[in-house]
Amino acid sequence: MSLEIRTIGDDDLRGWCVAALTGFLNAPTLTDEDLAFRRKDRDPARTWGAYDGGRCVATLRSFAQELTVVGGAPVTADAVSTVTVSPTHRRRGLLTRMMANDLRAAKERGDAVSTLIAAEYPIYGRYGFGPATHTAGWLIDTRRTGLDPRHAVPEGGGRIDFATAEEVRAFGPALHDRFRARTPGAVSRSEQWWLRNTGAVRLSHDPKLDPHHAVYRSPSGEIEGLASYVYEAAFTAGRPDATVRVLRLTATSPAAERALWQFLCSIDWVQRVDTGRRAPDDLLPHFLGDPRAAAIQEIADDLWLRPLDVPRLLEARTYPVAGTLVLQVEDRAGLAGGRFLLEAGPEGATCTPTTRSAGLTLDVGELGALYLGDVPATRLAALGRIDEERPGALTTADTLLHTARRPWCPDMF
Ligand SMILES: CC(C)(COP(=O)(O)OP(=O)(O)OC[C@H]1O[C@@H](n2cnc3c(N)ncnc32)[C@H](O)[C@@H]1OP(=O)(O)O)[C@@H](O)C(=O)NCCC(=O)NCCS
Repeated sequence: MSLEIRTIGDDDLRGWCVAALTGFLNAPTLTDEDLAFRRKDRDPARTWGAYDGGRCVATLRSFAQELTVVGGAPVTADAVSTVTVSPTHRRRGLLTRMMANDLRAAKERGDAVSTLIAAEYPIYGRYGFGPATHTAGWLIDTRRTGLDPRHAVPEGGGRIDFATAEEVRAFGPALHDRFRARTPGAVSRSEQWWLRNTGAVRLSHDPKLDPHHAVYRSPSGEIEGLASYVYEAAFTAGRPDATVRVLRLTATSPAAERALWQFLCSIDWVQRVDTGRRAPDDLLPHFLGDPRAAAIQEIADDLWLRPLDVPRLLEARTYPVAGTLVLQVEDRAGLAGGRFLLEAGPEGATCTPTTRSAGLTLDVGELGALYLGDVPATRLAALGRIDEERPGALTTADTLLHTARRPWCPDMF
C-alpha cells in the first residue's frame, strides 16, 4: 500500500498525536484535555502526517517563530518540531518527504529561514540545516564557590523575592521579550508555552514539576531576572545534601544574572546547583570566587538553521565594520542557492545576486552555521566545510560574521 504524505484534517489530530507520542517513546494515550490543548497549539495546514491505510505513522509540524538575529532584529522563522517516524516505518524516506514539503511551503510563504533543535546530530545536515548555536551545562559545588555564606545577596543592590506561577505568567512574557531582543539565537514563546511551563496546564506526559520562581528587581525596581528551579532534597549520612536543578534563568542585565546565581548557590542545605542549558560562554563560572566550582557537564549543538532566503537573512543582521563578500551558496534542494554579493557596514547591508567571482563557496547548511556568529568561517574551512576561492575572503567573513558573544537559544521546541 502506498504511503500518503498530507496535512491533517479536523478528525486526524488524535491519531497524529498518538503517533508523535509513540515516536518520542511515550505511552500512546492522551486525554480529551490534552487533545483540546494541542488543538489550540497546532495549525492543521502546517501539521504533516504520513498515512498508511488511514493510520498515522509519521509526524512533522511547523509554526511561525521570531528568531533574534545579530543586532537584535526579529526574523520570522519556520520552526520545525515534533518530527517522528514510527519504528514500523523508519528508513523509507518518510522524514525526507515531510521535510521537503514543509521547506517548500515555508519558501513559498516567504520565510527567510527554518529552525529546529536536533535530537541527533546526523539527521538534519542533509536537508540544509547547520548547527548555529551551542549550549553548555555546569554542575556547581556550592561548598567551593568562594561565596561568603554570611553575606546577604544581592551584593550589588536590588532585591530577590519569590513569585507565584500566576505572577510569572503576568510579567514573564515582557521579561522574555526584553531578554530575547538582546540575545541573538533566542526565540519567541507562545501563550501555550507560558501556560505549560508555569503549571497552568499539565499534559499527561509532562513531568510533574512544581518549580520555585525567584525574581530579581534592580535598585530602581525593574524586573531584570527570573530563575525557575526545583529542589532535589536529600540527607546523606545525616547531613543536608540537596541539589537545585535550574529549569530556566532569564536575565536582562549582568547584575541580575550575578544576583540570581549567587542566590541559588547560597541556599542553606543546597550542596550543588545543576545549571541546565546555558550559553557556552555564559558569565556564570566567573560570578563565583572560584570558577572551578562550576564543572562543565555538557556542551552540545543546539539550534539549527536552514537558510531559505539568503539576501533577506544577510540584510536582517548587523555588521561591526564595512566589508564586501561574494558567497557561492550551494543548495541541493534548489531553495536558496546562488551567488550573492554582500556589501555590509555598521549602517546596514545589502545582499544581491551577482556574477562576480566568489570569495567563498559553501553549502547552505554551513551558511546556517555561520549566520548567528557562533563559529568563525576559518574554523569551518579548516574542517574542509568551506572553500576559500579568493585569498582574504575567510578573514573578511570572520570580521563581518563572527560575534564577540556567542548566540544562545535557551528554549527547546
Ligand atoms: C529520525 C527519524 C525521524 C528519521 O525518519 P526516517 O523516515 O527513518 O528517515 P528517512 O528514511 O527519511 O531518512 C533519510 C536519511 O536520513 C538517515 N537517517 C535517518 N535517521 C537517522 C538517524 N537517527 N541517524 C543517522 N541517520 C539517519 C537515513 O539513513 C537516510 O539516509 P540517506 O538519505 O543517506 O539514505 C526517525 O528515525 C525517528 O522518528 N526517530 C525517533 C524520534 C526522533 O529522533 N525524532 C527527531 C526529533 S528532532
